[in-house]
Amino acid sequence: MKPEVYITRRLPAAAMKRLQEFCQPEIWDSDELAAPYEEMRARLPGKAGLLCLLTDRVDAALMDAAPGLKVISQCAVGYDNIDVAAATARGIPVGNTPGALTETTADFAFALLMAGARRIVEGMDYVRGGHWKTWGLQLLLGQDIYGATLGIVGLGRIGAAVARRARGFNMRLLYHNRQRHPEYEAELGIEYRPLDELLAESDFISLHLNLTAQSRGLIGEREFNLMKPNAVLVNTARGGVVQTEALYNALKAGRIAHAALDVTDPEPLPADHKLLTLPNITIAPHIASASTETRSRIAMMAVENLEAGLQGRPLPWPVNWVG
Ligand code: GLV
Repeated sequence: MKPEVYITRRLPAAAMKRLQEFCQPEIWDSDELAAPYEEMRARLPGKAGLLCLLTDRVDAALMDAAPGLKVISQCAVGYDNIDVAAATARGIPVGNTPGALTETTADFAFALLMAGARRIVEGMDYVRGGHWKTWGLQLLLGQDIYGATLGIVGLGRIGAAVARRARGFNMRLLYHNRQRHPEYEAELGIEYRPLDELLAESDFISLHLNLTAQSRGLIGEREFNLMKPNAVLVNTARGGVVQTEALYNALKAGRIAHAALDVTDPEPLPADHKLLTLPNITIAPHIASASTETRSRIAMMAVENLEAGLQGRPLPWPVNWVG
């Protein structure tokens, strides 16, 4: 008998096929809504594996609903939705999908940076709204990207990939990170700054940190007050790194020029949220890694982690160590 597993979203076809070779999946079969917590909890008893998404809260109580759970495989690189300490305490390996989405996410962060700098979404609204009557010398003036200073907060794989793109635009590069990265400093000519200095010096600020107890709410009123009035804030990390009320106030008051976000808090952002009343904001629905190739690749990695866990082998891409 193949082991039973619970999958919280239908995967791309190749990953679904691979999955069925080694387990019996039960699937939350909706693309419209995330699997509700109570539904996951009701479905987990008897399951040996869980393949989940960043929308699923996986806490100790959920793990305890499936005493035979042998593996938790997250189909994403970030895993702040999972209580990894609780999994480790129960001897359950947790896996994620690092590396595969680095370049795709960096492309999107750069797309947001450019959209914010050059007011592309405002331009589209202007055209759609029927306001385009003539070429305007002063119409929708944005700011130059080349030669500007980009501050990267969180210089991991994705932050470094954004820095590589920025070099092609002749940008000056700064970073802030818990540890210094001499190898990136040498490769990219990127300079370390304490966070406050980075915020004060940068024209563009791009966030690339995991959401943790330390990074939650990192960018608030004090931090916005340090930024330049022309600053464009780009967030492809997690919405919770930025305090939403402080962001709204900074944009509304023109304290900073623009925010270009792939992630929000709350997420999803309700259509009547006050952030959406602002002209100087660009928001995408958490799609930075959403290319066909990349999403297929990360689904396959999640399936490989699941298979290894079910077979009691070390996960190819582990996030915890279960001895
Ligand atoms: C997406 O946000 C991811 O963490 O993979």
